[in-house]
Amino acid sequence: MAPMTRSFSPNGIPTSEVADYYEKRAAAEVGLILSEGTVINRPSSSNDPNVPHFYGEHALLGWKNVIDKVHRAGGQMGPQIWHQGITNNDPSGWLPSAPFEGPSSFNKPGFENGVAMTDAAIADTISAFGQAASDAKTLGFDTVEIHGAHQYLIDQFFWNGTNNRTDIYGGNTLAERSRFAVEVIKEIRKRVGEDFALIIRLSQFKPAAYDFKLAETTAEMESWLTPLADAGIDIFHCSQRRFWEPEFEGSDLNFAGWAKKLTGKSTISVGSVGLDGDFFGAFAGQSSAPTPLDELERRMDRGDFDLVAVGRAILADPQWVSKIKNNKTESLKGFSKEALSSLI
Ligand SMILES: Cc1cc2nc3c(=O)[nH]c(=O)nc-3n(C[C@H](O)[C@H](O)[C@H](O)COP(=O)(O)O)c2cc1C
Repeated sequence: MAPMTRSFSPNGIPTSEVADYYEKRAAAEVGLILSEGTVINRPSSSNDPNVPHFYGEHALLGWKNVIDKVHRAGGQMGPQIWHQGITNNDPSGWLPSAPFEGPSSFNKPGFENGVAMTDAAIADTISAFGQAASDAKTLGFDTVEIHGAHQYLIDQFFWNGTNNRTDIYGGNTLAERSRFAVEVIKEIRKRVGEDFALIIRLSQFKPAAYDFKLAETTAEMESWLTPLADAGIDIFHCSQRRFWEPEFEGSDLNFAGWAKKLTGKSTISVGSVGLDGDFFGAFAGQSSAPTPLDELERRMDRGDFDLVAVGRAILADPQWVSKIKNNKTESLKGFSKEALSSLI
């Protein structure tokens, strides 16, 4: 299950309904659940009072309830630990107790909404990521995913459009701008030890620029990912909007395919699995034409990636995996925006 923000945790505390939501997916054979983004202990890590915290006694007790229920139902799970960086104000008007913070003061070129982090703020943030990961391990989670994608804090360091620092956390190359992520990973690895799987989620695209590519060539991608792997990443979770889209010209490999080829690490692919009405046509015997499912299988059989994350399809239908496994595709509930209004 891909990480999906739900904003059903008032004052940052995951409720028993949140635990039930994840438990239902575990009971229906989702192999690995990655939680919604859950924010680390910095005053302005979140723009939304209903996004869960991963710090503080009450929030951590809420998460303990989540992982215990998921384990009892036979599942495995990791929290996606998150700092939003410089972000938009929440439409409710709620604001955190301190200004939003990022590598520089803007969320995208031309949109200032916070302050550039001092050395002390950077050191404290690295430590807060480490604490969150160590708390995840103590609570019994099976892994941790660092949110390094989608134009949030870590990605704001990667992107030259949001990182114009002239100190050691900035630079002209993507490799130089990866220093903050490397330090976060090293700190987490130091706190959780060697025997604990560590995932990082990355995206080439930005919500402000869907066609954007952080790494424009395979060599640049290698210079970006290798230091992250060396710092302690086991699994790259390569966020794409459509898994079948090639990453670079001249090859049909997608982002997860390239990440695996360049680093030798395990990778997760994602993007529009199960959303197309024709996705299961061949599966259900309705069509002999190649479907997106065939394409997914072709890539997996070829060894492009190791895991596939499914987002909206599992958000809308807790039984998605067991229905697929048991060939009950006629009873799948498709995703629609209404599914977002409650925890199904
Ligand atoms: C409601 C919603 C919330 C999301 N929240 C997050 C998030 O907190 N962290 C994250 O990395 N991606 C988030 N995503 C992206 C998903 O993890 C996933 O990559 C995306 O939905 C594409 O997969 P899909 O086509 O299977 O839904 C979110 C997506 C949706 C639909």
